[in-house]
Amino acid sequence: MKKIKIGVIGARRGASMINYSKRAENAEIVAICDKSTKLLENQKKNLDGLKIAFYEHFDDFIKHDMDAVVLANYANEHAPFAIKAMHSGKHVFSEVLPVQTMKEAVELVEAVEETGLIYAYGENYCYMPAPYEMRRLYRENKIGEFEYGEGEYIHNCEPIWPSITYGEEDHWRNNMYSTFYCTHSLGPIIHITGLRPVSVVGFEGTKNERNLRTGAKSGQFGIEMVTLENGGIVKSIQGGLYENSIWYSIYGSKGRIECAREDAEDGHIERVYVRSDKVSGEYKQVFESYKPERDHDAIGRDYGHGGSDFYTMYHFVEKIKGNPDADIIDAYEALDMFLPGLFAYHSILNGSKPMQIPNLRDKSIRDDWRNDTSCTDPKVAKDMLLPTAKNGTPDINDGIYAHVKRLWGK
Ligand SMILES: NC(=O)c1ccc[n+]([C@@H]2O[C@H](COP(=O)([O-])OP(=O)(O)OC[C@H]3O[C@@H](n4cnc5c(N)ncnc54)[C@H](O)[C@@H]3O)[C@@H](O)[C@H]2O)c1
Repeated sequence: MKKIKIGVIGARRGASMINYSKRAENAEIVAICDKSTKLLENQKKNLDGLKIAFYEHFDDFIKHDMDAVVLANYANEHAPFAIKAMHSGKHVFSEVLPVQTMKEAVELVEAVEETGLIYAYGENYCYMPAPYEMRRLYRENKIGEFEYGEGEYIHNCEPIWPSITYGEEDHWRNNMYSTFYCTHSLGPIIHITGLRPVSVVGFEGTKNERNLRTGAKSGQFGIEMVTLENGGIVKSIQGGLYENSIWYSIYGSKGRIECAREDAEDGHIERVYVRSDKVSGEYKQVFESYKPERDHDAIGRDYGHGGSDFYTMYHFVEKIKGNPDADIIDAYEALDMFLPGLFAYHSILNGSKPMQIPNLRDKSIRDDWRNDTSCTDPKVAKDMLLPTAKNGTPDINDGIYAHVKRLWGK
């Protein structure tokens, strides 16, 4: 079997994709790039005996002979690297998030169209066992037409903030806004239903004392209330409430499917609860509860995030190989998952006013957005810089970052 040659940039989170490519039957790891020489040294030990090239600079790495590139670099810098990679003839797997501005969104879809290469968005939560089963059931009309859904990705990162921001004031996690990291909560609902989001209203948790004591400048949590193209409504919530939660629920015209809550200790994102009728109005409301299984679970279960870290890479590589059953999230769907977060933030900054979500499949609207750099990253936003929270960008005492750096050093 021909193995797809993979290069990975970003050797922290990227270690998962390196590990996939090292073990997989359909892929092999050939190059790794990270500006951290310490991470490169760790990977040299991990991959001892294999022929791998190591790079500190993306522009050198991208010239390497390989079929595809995994972008596991900073979450706000994926689009420029994805575009460069595609223009160098490489297929792209992008970690979350796909872009940080509308300008990048236009450039990303145009690069995909111009090159004809495969772009897969690594929204792994879509591939967790329960949300993936919810997709299968929804597509076979188990609960009828989608009416309402909820997605939660609540992760209280205060205890791990030193190990994920290293005391760097300008780390993307410190500069992001409350609805930026929205695709773990909203993405699965989009991938389940296949429906496009058309408008959004945003809300922000303004009691952000816990964020401020770590140096994070966003509101404590963000909410997108999204209307989909069929009129269905989704509540998507993400951020740092005190207790963690990953949870999805969808209601249709003849039933409901949801996954188990973590505290129920009943399998969490591995279990689905289904209650549905064959025909709307019969009210038999037949109940089923089970842990779905997939073909590659024997291997997949060794991987993180409920095995989803295996399935995202597996489908990406199979797509490159031309497997018609490969299920990837393309650039348009990636934007359907991300743009509601960006426009929810514009809504938040405008008193929770409803905002329309552009559909960049329509070429005629792209010029309206081509120069829109608004975001909270000063390097990219330039004169369109947004505050990091509804009440303005907070002043953080430098001592906070020095303290976080000391904790990271330990
Ligand atoms: N899907 C998930 O479950 C999940 C989980 C964790 C992280 N992530 C995503 O993975 C990505 C990486 O996150 P992380 O937790 O590893 O932390 P991070 O963003 O701090 O690390 C990024 C890594 O890329 C390297 N890097 C950045 N820019 C580079 C450049 N120009 N040249 C060479 N190396 C460069 C850094 O040295 C670092 O090792 C982010 O996009 C994040 O959103 C996803």
